[in-house]
Amino acid sequence: MTLNVNGADHELDAAPDTPLLWAIRDHLKMTGTKFGCGMAMCGACTVHMDGQPIRSCSMPVQATAGKKITTIEGVSSPAGSPIAKVVQQAWNESQVVQCGYCQSGQIMSAIALLEKNPNPSDADIDSAMSGNICRCNTYHRIRGAIKDASEKLG
Ligand code: FES
Ligand code: FES
Repeated sequence: MTLNVNGADHELDAAPDTPLLWAIRDHLKMTGTKFGCGMAMCGACTVHMDGQPIRSCSMPVQATAGKKITTIEGVSSPAGSPIAKVVQQAWNESQVVQCGYCQSGQIMSAIALLEKNPNPSDADIDSAMSGNICRCNTYHRIRGAIKDASEKLG
């Protein structure tokens, strides 16, 4: 089957029910997307499918046929969206990251939020980010970075 990731088609020799996360990490060797719970509970594995944030640990690869998948590696590329660049800059300036494990998922959720709603309220941020768990408790800085990015985009 063919998997479109970060703008490129990849031929994949994988069982149709392989979770997208393992197709990305094991088959394509893109390790920026993390495994946390494997049960769609923590958000560490968040990627975009046609621009929507999804939990790649719980998405069978066959369900991605004809869809465009974007990973953290894709938004970091020069061809990534302008919003992604502002979000990553805000993350750096706010020094959000502690251990970093959850952060690619956090950033993917934040980008998806700001793509849809460039001026989110606190409630909008809490709602969009509620599925991304951080064991280092960086939530306050994540909210601040999303606010900063929103102001820069405004
Ligand atoms: S690893 Fe996918 S949501 Fe936790
Ligand atoms: S920064 Fe460590 S889990 Fe979030």
